[in-house]
Amino acid sequence: MTSGIEKLPRARVNFLPTPLTELRRLAHVLEGPRILMKRDDLTGLALGGNKTRKLEFLLGDALSQNCDTVITGGAIQSNHCRQTAAAAAAVGLKCHLALGGESPSFPEGNLLLDLLFGAIIHWCGEQRKGERIPEIAEQLRSQGRRPYVIPYGGSNAIGAMGFVDAISEVKGQLSAQNISVDCLIFPSSSGGTHAGITVGADLYDLSMRVIGIAIDRTEPGEPSYESELATLANQIAEKLGIEARYDAGSFQVRYDYFGGGYAVVGELEREAILLVGKYEGVLLDPVYTARAMGGLIDMIRNKEFSSRDTVLFWHTGGIPALFEHARELVPR
Ligand SMILES: Cc1ncc(COP(=O)(O)O)c(C=O)c1O
Repeated sequence: MTSGIEKLPRARVNFLPTPLTELRRLAHVLEGPRILMKRDDLTGLALGGNKTRKLEFLLGDALSQNCDTVITGGAIQSNHCRQTAAAAAAVGLKCHLALGGESPSFPEGNLLLDLLFGAIIHWCGEQRKGERIPEIAEQLRSQGRRPYVIPYGGSNAIGAMGFVDAISEVKGQLSAQNISVDCLIFPSSSGGTHAGITVGADLYDLSMRVIGIAIDRTEPGEPSYESELATLANQIAEKLGIEARYDAGSFQVRYDYFGGGYAVVGELEREAILLVGKYEGVLLDPVYTARAMGGLIDMIRNKEFSSRDTVLFWHTGGIPALFEHARELVPR
């Protein structure tokens, strides 16, 4: 199937396709469905992660507009910011990051990597979702720079194209092995991954339940996260010139696994990291993939899947944050 996606500019800042693997030992221990894993922790740039798919399109756009700087923002341990800093370095753009919190006495995890990639950090206190990006972009313009603004999480219609494209990639891998998937599970936060996957599944005709595990929202607010996802999905569809249209009901988000809050590592996350580590030799990150995998494990234990089902878990990366949370993770 062709769509407008082939015409969009890209910067190849990743190594695709990522592997599609099977978690046989974990499935055996859980006595549940067949579990596949899409290894986007292996996207190849700067310890991997889902954001390099978005950055392929975002930086392609930045370069096509002749920008010389990128600016984005997020939490102090933002994986998105770390991957943006690395991708910018790889294509020769300056990178400014608006990070929540204050400068720590010693940089750890993703923040250490941001600095190694030469990013310029703007400390933003309570504002951890890139609220100060427009103001910093304005300052850069007044200094004669040509900044390209990447929103929080890289979640606009351009960034989300990376996940439309990812569905074409995984569909090829599934078809080659003659596998059909009943349900796809992944962490959902700023929405680009979720919206891109949903449009991609329609565009490339990959029929399955798509369930995002909410990472930093407790319940639908006003406007609901699902409405935000629908707005983004409609923007993607319009940009691609396809007819599909979405509303809040097009999205399934599970809010049951929020635990102690964003980036608070609880028993759900600890158990998921230890089980997947012990039985598969695969690392999950403490904030996103451990929460989503903890949700999947809980759903399996609650018999939401049968042993005949195939579940695809999308590993979205985030590994450097493990080291920031080392104290909570040491096996007891
Ligand atoms: C490791 C990881 N997984 C999942 C997500 C969620 O992706 P999205 O923001 O597109 O919803 C993020 C976002 O920062 C992430 O860093």
